[in-house]
Amino acid sequence: MKSKIKIAPSILSSDFRKLYDEIKKVEKAGADWIHCDVMDGHFVDNLTFGPVVVEAINRATRLPLDVHLMIENPLKYIKEFAQAGADILTVHVEACRNLRQVISKIKNLGMKAGCSLRPKTPLAKVKPYLKDLDLLLIMSVNPGFAGQSFISSVLPKVKEAKKLKQEKKYKYYIEIDGGINPKTAKLAKKAGAEVLVAASAIFKAKDYRRAIKELREA
Ligand code: DX5
Ligand code: ZN
Repeated sequence: MKSKIKIAPSILSSDFRKLYDEIKKVEKAGADWIHCDVMDGHFVDNLTFGPVVVEAINRATRLPLDVHLMIENPLKYIKEFAQAGADILTVHVEACRNLRQVISKIKNLGMKAGCSLRPKTPLAKVKPYLKDLDLLLIMSVNPGFAGQSFISSVLPKVKEAKKLKQEKKYKYYIEIDGGINPKTAKLAKKAGAEVLVAASAIFKAKDYRRAIKELREA
């Protein structure tokens, strides 16, 4: 039986020269979702890709696309990402002027709605919206780059999210992103993380199947 833990490889550390093959490889290796890191050079100091590439990724796989927007004013681009085939669209609370409006627009366009918190942003910021979320993404590095070290001070926030989920019967997945390797995966899972995002730990490994298995079973 497949464990409850989901693994979402972030293509940020894949070889973009052969993105299709990379996606097929993680798909065969047991990935549950494909995590797409969209960065605009404003909300974070890095630039990656937008809806055009997400649309191509969608044609390459039947796995759900877990699209992590690290962009200012995400409201403006929700429709484009829906059309590109995003299944879960996650915005940063710090980038939204009206999170309620953003969440309802994402849902009205048929996607699952996620909200992400930078390591320093407290859970209190999103408390009023938790009941409406399908996914809560807790960043364990400062968003922007792959290959950074896990910030363990976010673990109490993961625990708090899990406690609230149980108490109030909320439905969101608790996802953690940044610096995940077998060691930190274990800590994150223990705290309550249900979806593990990993770029380096998977795409820099020789054997993707083994890397995914090690994270899932950590
Ligand atoms: C960082 C991104 C992450 C990143 C994770 O801003 O949101 O998804 O790709 O990379 P690793 O797993 O290498 O820390
Ligand atoms: Zn991410």
